[in-house]
Amino acid sequence: MSYTVSEFVSDLQHLHGQALEETAMMEAVKPLALKLAGDGAWFNEKMLTIDDTLGVGITTLHEEDDHSLTVIAVAWSDKDLKVPPHDHGTWAVVAGVRGIERNTLWERQDDGSHEDPDYAEVAPVSELDISLGDVICMGSGAIHTVDNVGEGISLSLHTYGRNPNTTERHQYDTENNCAKAFKVDFDSTGAN
Ligand SMILES: [Fe+2]
Repeated sequence: MSYTVSEFVSDLQHLHGQALEETAMMEAVKPLALKLAGDGAWFNEKMLTIDDTLGVGITTLHEEDDHSLTVIAVAWSDKDLKVPPHDHGTWAVVAGVRGIERNTLWERQDDGSHEDPDYAEVAPVSELDISLGDVICMGSGAIHTVDNVGEGISLSLHTYGRNPNTTERHQYDTENNCAKAFKVDFDSTGAN
């Protein structure tokens, strides 16, 4: 039985209406995201077009009018990936579709009391490889980087509690120990 993007979105909307707290919401979304990632009928080759800015290609599959419940397909370059450590400012459930993506999770090492409000020290603490059949859940405070460790361009299905471009999200500069606002140009590849 196929499972379409619109069925996924309608299941998400139903869950959203229950106003679950973040961890419960991610747990509920997880099997649905795995089901959609496994279906593959929504996939098209144009989604693998990479934009040079960050080495990713982003295709929006759904976004609510109020910017909540955003679903995107993200292709990751196997050559020139430049996405810095970042958070999303909302929960995220990421299911593997093609290739192998290594998610490195980072944690803040400072207590946020530095006189410079943008000061932030982060360090990697764990890794998780995701392929088709795997999913990773990240709460609002999670910081990660992604490396494409398989062969060819990889693809994953990302579901967010809000479009991360409408949250207070950050990228982390590990050389200068600072956090900066982070916006990503969705659909920069024109793949839609
Ligand atoms: Fe991310």
